Amino acid sequence: MNLTVIGTGYVGLVTGTCFAEMGNTVTCVDTDPAKVAQLGQGQIPIFEPGLDAMVKNNSKDGRLRFTTSLAEAMADSQIYFIAVGTPSNGDGSADLRQVLAVAREIGRHLNAYGVVVDKSTVPVGTAEKVREAIQGELQSRGVNIDFDVVSNPEFLKEGAAIDDFMRPDRIIVGSDSDRAREIMRQLYAPFNMNRDRTLYMGVRDAEMTKYAANAMLATKISFINEIAGLCDRLDVDVENVRLGIGSDARIGYSFIYPGCGYGGSCFPKDVKAIIHLAESCRFEPRLLRSVEERNQAQRRVLCQKVRERFGDDLSGLTFGVWGLAFKPGTDDLREAPAVVLLHELIGAGAKVRAYDPVAMDAARRQLPAAWFDNGDLVLCEHQYHALQDVDAMILVTEWKPFRTPDFHAMRKLMKQPVIFDGRNQYEPQTVKQAGFEYQGIGRKS
Ligand code: UDX
Repeated sequence: MNLTVIGTGYVGLVTGTCFAEMGNTVTCVDTDPAKVAQLGQGQIPIFEPGLDAMVKNNSKDGRLRFTTSLAEAMADSQIYFIAVGTPSNGDGSADLRQVLAVAREIGRHLNAYGVVVDKSTVPVGTAEKVREAIQGELQSRGVNIDFDVVSNPEFLKEGAAIDDFMRPDRIIVGSDSDRAREIMRQLYAPFNMNRDRTLYMGVRDAEMTKYAANAMLATKISFINEIAGLCDRLDVDVENVRLGIGSDARIGYSFIYPGCGYGGSCFPKDVKAIIHLAESCRFEPRLLRSVEERNQAQRRVLCQKVRERFGDDLSGLTFGVWGLAFKPGTDDLREAPAVVLLHELIGAGAKVRAYDPVAMDAARRQLPAAWFDNGDLVLCEHQYHALQDVDAMILVTEWKPFRTPDFHAMRKLMKQPVIFDGRNQYEPQTVKQAGFEYQGIGRKS
């Protein structure tokens, strides 16, 4: 099949590339000429394992190409994926300006029946707005062309995006049209070889499913973080509690790891958006508001523990931070708990030495230049360099190389033997035996 994917951000690029990998001919469109030129030369602007090689192979074989011209891309395709950003507005609502601008442009170039697919995460009711925007353009052109709008939300996780796309748990297709449903069925048939994973439903149901999935996962995380806070105060080890509740199949082990809060491009934005959606229809989102509040507080928990240990004024102290990305497997710093921690530490007068296996370039580009100029933040070449003469080590992202460190070497490098473990990676007993003071999240310290 011939497809157009509009937006070459995370979701768009993975979607386009994976459909090309399945034998479709895909044209990816982006308004940024520099990005299109880069992608055309096989340079990938994001870090995602496996994506690089897949883009290069499919481009070489002519199944994947990049352009700035939607009109040109649309000339030979029948399915148009909208995969542009839906950032948060100041009030938490999703900013739909890019989605609706793309819809209008589709309306300006549509010449025969087509299926317009919302891949971006959008509030309930967006497909109707997309339909109206396209219809408006068709009317002003004085033409009458049939089209359908489908909601097909994406559930990919950064760092595992290719696998999530190629081997999905489920494929959600929200559509009120048999014709569009059949086209989507054919498109996704290769992903359903051993069993059909597609769930067909109404457009609004599909839009809500995406928000509900992310809100549920965020709720699980905020729940266990709240329990961990209680464990800290009641001399209970949350690790035993996690295993104890996870063994109940109704609860399960996933997404109940306590830590220093969830980050990334989805959970924080989507929880805010669903809260806003509830408020806009005068429904009190009591639970989701608490999920959001717990997470805001959780991202400050590490600094709070540092302050309880060292006092409110951190000047004269240096901290070694392991991990900057919002989670392992990505260089993404969006809403990262590490960035919140750096603001708090540096704001309280501390100096920071930091290391991340992948996000160093992103950190150099995105963190405040003043931090580097004033020597408040030093990015180190190696995880152990980040511990030279520090008053404590703070683990923020649970990258694998941090799991079994050489505690003996660390002890020699650090000025004070103190570890704050923001992801409960270490056994308190082992760390204490190695001569360290240890504080985890809810770990009976
Ligand atoms: C998420 C969803 O998982 C995905 O389905 C959706 O399409 C986009 O949002 P992603 O943001 O890539 O994906 O990351 P995910 O692996 O879900 O982690 C999100 C955050 O939750 C990370 O900051 C992670 O550290 C945190 N987390 C996750 C916890 O704190 N505890 C857990 O038990 C699990």
